[in-house]
Amino acid sequence: MSQAHEQRKPPLGDPKHAIDLALFGALGDLAMRKLFPALYHLDREGLMPESTRIMGLARQEHDTAAFRQLVSEALQKRLKSDEQDKDSVERFLNRLTYHKLDFTRSEGYEGIREWREGSQLPMVVYLSVAARIYGDICHHLDQSGSLDDETRVVVEKPIGYDLISSQEINDAIGAVFPESRIYRIDHYLGKETVQNLIALRFANPLFGTQWNQNHISHVEITVAEKVGIEGRWGYFDDAGQLRDMVQNHLLQLLCLIAMDPPSNLDADAIRDEKVKVLKALKPFTGEALGRDVVRGQYIAGTSDGQPVPGYLDEEDANTQSQTETFVAMKTEVANWRWAGVPFYLRTGKRMPEKLSQIVIHFRQQPHYIFDPDQRGIASNKLIIRLQPEEGIALQVLTKDSGLDKGMRLRPGPLHLDFNNAFPKSRIPDAYERLLLEVMKGQQYLFVRRDEVEHAWRWCDQLIDGWKTRETPPRRYPAGSWGPVASIAMITQDGRSWYEDY
Ligand code: BG6
Repeated sequence: MSQAHEQRKPPLGDPKHAIDLALFGALGDLAMRKLFPALYHLDREGLMPESTRIMGLARQEHDTAAFRQLVSEALQKRLKSDEQDKDSVERFLNRLTYHKLDFTRSEGYEGIREWREGSQLPMVVYLSVAARIYGDICHHLDQSGSLDDETRVVVEKPIGYDLISSQEINDAIGAVFPESRIYRIDHYLGKETVQNLIALRFANPLFGTQWNQNHISHVEITVAEKVGIEGRWGYFDDAGQLRDMVQNHLLQLLCLIAMDPPSNLDADAIRDEKVKVLKALKPFTGEALGRDVVRGQYIAGTSDGQPVPGYLDEEDANTQSQTETFVAMKTEVANWRWAGVPFYLRTGKRMPEKLSQIVIHFRQQPHYIFDPDQRGIASNKLIIRLQPEEGIALQVLTKDSGLDKGMRLRPGPLHLDFNNAFPKSRIPDAYERLLLEVMKGQQYLFVRRDEVEHAWRWCDQLIDGWKTRETPPRRYPAGSWGPVASIAMITQDGRSWYEDY
């Protein structure tokens, strides 16, 4: 082989992070859309050790060659053309083996044990399947003798439907795996800017001293999606936007903003602090439920200028459904750091654009010396953009330039746009980072059992309140920012949702 060819070979990862990965649900949507592309990127970038092997498991009748072909097609579809170099794709596909298995029956699990025979590597079991069968799979793996004291298990959200069902699922997993080897995914924790939130808060003394109710007036978290239900009406209708997005993604973001500094970056130090925030979240009782929470459901409207159907007119819809596709709320973290600081959250499907951002609004100066008519703009904001165009901007006030402007103020951003700031580096998908941390055996980006359960406890009381009051969702046209009531909810406090889309 020529030296030139050798140099083109993709690099290989650190041997100490090598694993045998058993991926359940290997032909499913998440695997094809996210997991295989993420694993491929890790391999291509030299983060996957040579000996790492991947076994895909699914019910369908296939052999390894056909499975590799399906994964290869998925990669072609998902990756940019300059990301698909022949050597890397070939090397990645050669790691794959297929094993047909009916997950809920014990027969066939011995195939995993046989695959593992002679392997010195730790096994990672990734369950990209419905949570109700997590327990069955863990049990059969255990009974078949496929596990050892190093095996880790990765599980996807949603873990349950409420506190009780999540406890049952966690008990079933916990009967086989100790907490230290359970990796519960919330893919928002793998997003680049979410990681940066930790760096921003705890590496910059500037923010450290300002991060409390003395200096922050309120916080906004928006996770807006342009898409509708995308062919998964049945699943979504059982859940609704509160369970699908708030119980996990939005509450995790809220925890990272509101938590006290952990004593170090260890998984449990961070998760202990997040749990304290979840426990301090104010429940919605009585009047607050009607005043501080808005549920919405989209009706027909437009998306990118094209007409789109309403939620009840989507394929497979039950036309009587009262499930929410939007929720906005004002909540509070009842502790010394945050007492009196509203956290406004909103998330919905069929919004005008895909946008996830956090806006921290700082308080105004106690004494104001500029033109009184400019008082409204006179506060700093920290805007943390998760997607699209990941970045962080600090809105500061400067003097407007020009002789005729006097001491007129102008708000402008101090901007850190990650794509421009680091033009050579690709922003990795959340799953790449999460899979890498699983390979390394590090848990700090994964959700601990008590976090899931405290989040459910808080959501359950809200859902129970809705049931008691029988509040139907308010309608909003597809392509709008949600029901008018969600705007009124914040304007009645003399504020507005930050707009700089
Ligand atoms: C998932 C939800 O967890 O997150 C989906 O189940 C939602 O309904 C998705 O569309 C949004 O993720 P992202 O990364 O595209 O913002």
